[in-house]
Amino acid sequence: MNTLKRIGVLTSGGDAPGMNAAIRSVVRTALYNNIRVTGIMRGYQGLVDGEFRDMDTSSVANIIQRGGTILKTARSEDFRTAAGMEKAANNLRQSGIDALVVIGGDGTFRGAAEFLTIYPEFRIVGIAGTIDNDLFGTDNTIGYDTALNTVVEAVDKIRDTANSHDRLFFIEVMGRDAGFLALRSGIAVGAEEVLIPETETSIDEIIDKIETGRRNNKTSGIIMVAEGDESGGAFAVAEKVKKRLPHYDTRVTVLGHIQRGGAPSCLDRVLASQYGFHAVNTLIAGRSSVMVGIVKREVVETPFAQAVKHHNKVRSDLLEMVRILSI
Ligand code: F6P
Repeated sequence: MNTLKRIGVLTSGGDAPGMNAAIRSVVRTALYNNIRVTGIMRGYQGLVDGEFRDMDTSSVANIIQRGGTILKTARSEDFRTAAGMEKAANNLRQSGIDALVVIGGDGTFRGAAEFLTIYPEFRIVGIAGTIDNDLFGTDNTIGYDTALNTVVEAVDKIRDTANSHDRLFFIEVMGRDAGFLALRSGIAVGAEEVLIPETETSIDEIIDKIETGRRNNKTSGIIMVAEGDESGGAFAVAEKVKKRLPHYDTRVTVLGHIQRGGAPSCLDRVLASQYGFHAVNTLIAGRSSVMVGIVKREVVETPFAQAVKHHNKVRSDLLEMVRILSI
């Protein structure tokens, strides 16, 4: 039997396209089950400050197609402190909120797990929302697919100009600790090389690749660089390569926050709707401290501690494939 009276929903950390679709799904699934919903503004900061608003079915009308998050988001320093958490717990009690759905990335789940160890009276379920796709326990995080499509669209355009000018481009994409965005988009744009934090970058190999390309009549090149690559990012790699190949016309593009915006793709809207639906049902079933995800089409629940500990392995066979297909 459902014992929940009111749940809170918040988005935290970097925004991701599809977060609104997840909020809509959480709100409507809860209301359908006669559970009231409070929207918490600006992630954990709103929890500390008591910035709450009542949500009804119309609060989430017409948002499934919108990027960003109507609840806004933040990376809260206050919530990391004992005093901040105490304020948050008191605000929840005062508003009669028994449980939370938190939508965000690893920092969001770390915060939730810590809060629950101090205040186990509450229940919290997480939804993976980050363009980085760097969480264990789900094949896709919300926003990853949209960001990939944004990157591909941008790099296709860069390829046109790279080709016209016979230039070598180093393109930096987001991904502080993970190379998923760089690798998958790199495959889709036919990149010559993909540099990611999970593997060691060899300038010798890059040079070799570029020179082989030239011998095979390639006149332009695209090197995708994840921002977290240990080489220091696109500018740093470009400089090292330029020193060794001064006659090459090189340029650097940092795609930046354009990757986080825009209307969510169909895949992200569907995924977000599924996650929201399952998150509320998980809470109703009495479970807590887990992230809901989908692995090989099956809904799975992963304890927060495990979801943030490490992310899925980057497939080295795909990296190898990039190199073979771009000879
Ligand atoms: O975690 C998502 C992410 O987009 C990372 O890829 C990136 O490093 C970071 O957020 C940027 O965060 P901010 O917008 O706070 O600078």
